[in-house]
Amino acid sequence: MQPWTLLGVLSLLIAVPDALAVKSHDFKTCSQAGFCRRGRALSARAADAKSAWKSPYSLDASSIAITPNKAVFTAGVKSTLYPDIKFGLELRVHEDGVVRVRMDEVDGLRKRYDEAAAWALIAEPRISQDIAWTAGKKDIRAKYGNNEVVVAFEPLKITLLRGGKEQVVLNGQGLLHMEHFRAKAVAETKTEEADPAPEQGAEDAEEQVVMEVKEPNPRAWFEGDSEDDWWEERFSTWTDTKPKGPESLSIDISFPSHGTIYGIPQHATRLALPTTAGDAPTFTDPYRLYNADVFEYLASSPMSLYGSIPVLHAHSADSTVGIFHAMGSETWIDVAHASNKSTQTHWISESGILDLFLMPGPTPADIFAQYAGLTGTPVLPPHWSLGYHQCRWNYISSDDVRTVQKRFDEEDMPVDVFWLDIEYAEDHKYFMWDQKNFPDPVDMTNDVAALGRKMVVIVDPHLKRTDNYPAFKEASDRKVLVKPPSGEGEYEGWCWSGSSSWIDFFDPNSWDWWMSLFKTTASKTGWTWTSSTTDIHIWNDMNEPSVFNGPEISMPRDNIHYGGWEHRDVHNINGMLFSNLTSKAVQHRTDQPTRPFVLTRSFFAGSQRFGAMWTGDNLGTWEHMAVGIQMVLANGIAGMSFAGSDVGGFFGNPEPEMLVRWYQVGIFNPFLRAHAHIDTKRREPFLLEQPYKGMVKDILRLRYTMLPVWYTAFRETSVTGVPVLRPHYVMFPKDPKGFDLDDQYFIGASGLLVKPITTKGATETTVYLPEDEVYYDYFTHHAHRGAAKGKEISVQAALHQIPLFVRGGSIVPTRERPRRSSPLMKQDPFTLRVALNTKGSAKGEVYLDDGVSYKHEEGQFVWRAFTAEAVGKKSVRLSSTDLAAGRPGEAVDGVALTGYKAANGFAESVRDVRVEKVVVLGLSGKPASVKVEGGGELVWEYTAGVAAGGKGEGAASVLTIKDPKVRIVEGWAIVIQL
Ligand SMILES: *[C@@H]1O[C@H](CO)[C@@H](O)[C@H](O)[C@H]1NC(C)=O
Ligand SMILES: *[C@@H]1O[C@H](CO)[C@@H](O)[C@H](O)[C@H]1NC(C)=O
Repeated sequence: MQPWTLLGVLSLLIAVPDALAVKSHDFKTCSQAGFCRRGRALSARAADAKSAWKSPYSLDASSIAITPNKAVFTAGVKSTLYPDIKFGLELRVHEDGVVRVRMDEVDGLRKRYDEAAAWALIAEPRISQDIAWTAGKKDIRAKYGNNEVVVAFEPLKITLLRGGKEQVVLNGQGLLHMEHFRAKAVAETKTEEADPAPEQGAEDAEEQVVMEVKEPNPRAWFEGDSEDDWWEERFSTWTDTKPKGPESLSIDISFPSHGTIYGIPQHATRLALPTTAGDAPTFTDPYRLYNADVFEYLASSPMSLYGSIPVLHAHSADSTVGIFHAMGSETWIDVAHASNKSTQTHWISESGILDLFLMPGPTPADIFAQYAGLTGTPVLPPHWSLGYHQCRWNYISSDDVRTVQKRFDEEDMPVDVFWLDIEYAEDHKYFMWDQKNFPDPVDMTNDVAALGRKMVVIVDPHLKRTDNYPAFKEASDRKVLVKPPSGEGEYEGWCWSGSSSWIDFFDPNSWDWWMSLFKTTASKTGWTWTSSTTDIHIWNDMNEPSVFNGPEISMPRDNIHYGGWEHRDVHNINGMLFSNLTSKAVQHRTDQPTRPFVLTRSFFAGSQRFGAMWTGDNLGTWEHMAVGIQMVLANGIAGMSFAGSDVGGFFGNPEPEMLVRWYQVGIFNPFLRAHAHIDTKRREPFLLEQPYKGMVKDILRLRYTMLPVWYTAFRETSVTGVPVLRPHYVMFPKDPKGFDLDDQYFIGASGLLVKPITTKGATETTVYLPEDEVYYDYFTHHAHRGAAKGKEISVQAALHQIPLFVRGGSIVPTRERPRRSSPLMKQDPFTLRVALNTKGSAKGEVYLDDGVSYKHEEGQFVWRAFTAEAVGKKSVRLSSTDLAAGRPGEAVDGVALTGYKAANGFAESVRDVRVEKVVVLGLSGKPASVKVEGGGELVWEYTAGVAAGGKGEGAASVLTIKDPKVRIVEGWAIVIQL
């Protein structure tokens, strides 16, 4: 949601949805941020100097210290410009081959923020014991596997090589610059609080003199000749006091063998990142990472949005590498291509140490494993949260909620969750129901829960400053609120609730207290949310944090957090802590923890452990619909798989055609929610006229039939980190024709390929098939044939049609009985779509558990593999096997299956669930018989058509086996005799 400032109201009035209405002047460009300006000026000077440019940083070889096991080395680093300033460098190689590079100022005037990694990482990574650093005259190096890390001494340059080929190079362009802490120049220090030691003052005076000399001055040559916004910075009406002075960090990171890069979400751009520097860049400003509440954001821009994940993939046909920069402060990233085979990036951060993880790949799947090893995998969400979420700002009363639910049921449209935005809360004091409109919140929630549904209610981080609000009062008493620049008292800003303060979740004293608020039972020790139930889950909005009267609609950078750190140091991490603690609070409301659902707008590296995100306040335009897909893909490859963009667009009144298309996009997002601004017309799907209403009903039902696919994909990502939505470069890393594709993608390992339509008036589209394989139209069973070098096909895409294909070689499990909510599907039978590949085989899997508890961690689940294999020339055998059985104590995909028994409690509870239909596509001819192994002939039908093994295209042959009476929890085989 968005600031309701006077300006906000004005721009709402003039906001036609497709006008570019972003208030750009609310947000800094690089040239308005002192440190970004300095960083870009540095790279401009380097470009001008060409080969004469030389990094002043070098490694002091005499200071190298290698740990006794030889796995880690540390060394001093010096800059020729400031011989008295010391820096320390440390390199270590983790067991999985990730290289960690840390550099910090040593014994400086102050300390740089060094805790970003501590928040992002799941654990201290294990260091490889097989590495031996060896120091030579010019460099120190370590070889491991096919990789080698080389640290050149002078100038300092760090290179990761594979097979002798450069993969990642740090400071190859000489843009490394860690601005050391200094005292403010004497003449200006009279009123300064920073109290420089006498000799420092003298040194500074000396610096001043040096600066004035007109002769070539190496410092000015490198750093520029002005103290550009070193000690204070103005933006619009705000002044940032910058008491610590300049402390920015610049570093160039090059990928000499990689022409395409992806990642660094969140930005509204293509998935393959366009350039911001070099010749004819697409964007003139660098990509910005500074979590911000951007009103009516642009559909194509490197501007900051709500979340920041400093993760980048660099890709080519023969190699993928990645980097993760654990950096919590504002960061700008320039991207340029020296050729179409290499990429240069330049990272400019406001504060913090250099803490860089180089992920060696060599495939996208390896990068996902390496990144998950650092920051964790996405959470396995509650099953119901993969259903349809109906939201609006606002459902205005408990009766409104009941009516909306009734209308869904009257129209037989499935829905799992009803949402309440800020207006449920009296004076926007979250937790506190507006008694007039929500007199019976528990009854209302119980009415929703009666059909297996849930509610999600918003809880924002700004607390109204009033003593009659327990959340504020208790936070204030406990002194866990963010402090103003003085470090004393409580920071006060303006948000939905008027004068507000913000909890400092960096303060561990806030943690247990925050968790206690969500208890639904009374407590003697403090306030608890007794007017709620465990069917209410939480939406965390505004956690960038959004502050209406703050600089860039956020918190002043000189505010003070726990430990004395400034807000600038931790800004991008801040939102993650809020959703972390809220998800823990929801998880632990009951004695037996249950899976929480917490949606967050702001996020950082690691947020995938806490719940879902969405792409914020999008517009109801075709451009936003399209870029939403690209943003969800980008978030997924950076770990945040559980992502979606608001169906319909937050702003505007989409016409029926657009709304139908938006639902088609939405059901192929991992997180599926419709949401709308308070000024928009109601647009719940039951309000549509026919034929649109029927179309949306079919679309929502399609999502529900595919819940087994989605849940199985979530299980996988929760273990491996491979994203739920898989772009082409992830599936087919060697196919350059797929590198730029970001409007069609695969769902998990299911073999489903979708290309949602995001243009008005479309009746057909083209789809790229990357391989010589059959792709079956999901609805018509038309067999399309790809080609070894890739091929585009034309397909129908009228409004009621979704280009959705099953890749030959896949078996897709669905549940096709329409239900009103997903929990009501628990005992429903399955349909298996067996899409034979050119070799006549196929495989797939399904994962099921109770969807709400943690009993799956004790082995309470069902996890089956389905396999179709040609046996000789004359038969096909389709079987179901247990993916977890027979391997007690063994790890599968990294998960210990200790405790798993085929006859576990959950499996018992779904013992009677059958496969009610099997559809086999692409058989080579009419079967002579179809039998369950060891049983009699089954009931089946066959339509002749194109066989998977041939070269033909057209209607595929279809064998439909009716009710084979095999059960999902058991092993079985069906033999098709040709
Ligand atoms: C890359 O550049 C080379 C030389 O300029 C050109 O021949 C080649 O077609 C380009 N490749 C791509 C994928 O654009
Ligand atoms: C999440 O919160 C816990 C406290 O419950 C804390 O120990 C942990 O460091 C936090 N992690 C992140 C990533 O915020």
